[in-house]
Amino acid sequence: MPKVVVVYLSTSGNTKAMAEAIVEGVKERNVEGHAVNFHEARIEDLQDADAIALGSSTFYYKMLPPMEKFIESLAKANVKAKVGAAFGSYGWSGEAPVMIAEKMREIGINVIDPVLRLQYQPTDKDLEECKRLGKDIANKIKPAKKEKM
Ligand SMILES: Cc1cc2nc3c(=O)[nH]c(=O)nc-3n(C[C@H](O)[C@H](O)[C@H](O)COP(=O)(O)O)c2cc1C
Repeated sequence: MPKVVVVYLSTSGNTKAMAEAIVEGVKERNVEGHAVNFHEARIEDLQDADAIALGSSTFYYKMLPPMEKFIESLAKANVKAKVGAAFGSYGWSGEAPVMIAEKMREIGINVIDPVLRLQYQPTDKDLEECKRLGKDIANKIKPAKKEKM
């Protein structure tokens, strides 16, 4: 059964809310999905997944440093050719998701374009966008039989 793992790093819960809504979207397509706080994420779970979404808020024009380290450790694991997505909440410049996507592509993950960036606390409409991304990810990893959009 295909599986999506969504790893997030969030200081005040905004990116976490995005991660949880992405997983809701994944599940609405009847695909297994888990949102995991970065501190609890295990590389083996990502190796087992068919798709990986990584999210961090933007701090000082970058992703949060532990996420950068995490992606570096992913580079040593075999996660090539998986489906990927990058996301994150931001305040005014929002570089983190773009940088996450770049790093994921460098290690061979097929990242969905565009990345998902939302300003501050997600609104209900924003959360719908997150769910949409979750559905898109699920559709990409589902076997041939596609559900209606
Ligand atoms: C110390 C600090 C630095 C920040 N630096 C940036 C920044 O460089 N660019 C930006 O877009 N947002 C910046 N932000 C805003 C956060 O990205 C924003 O509050 C975001 O919603 C936090 O999401 P989180 O709860 O998932 O961590 C900064 C916030 C703080 C507190």
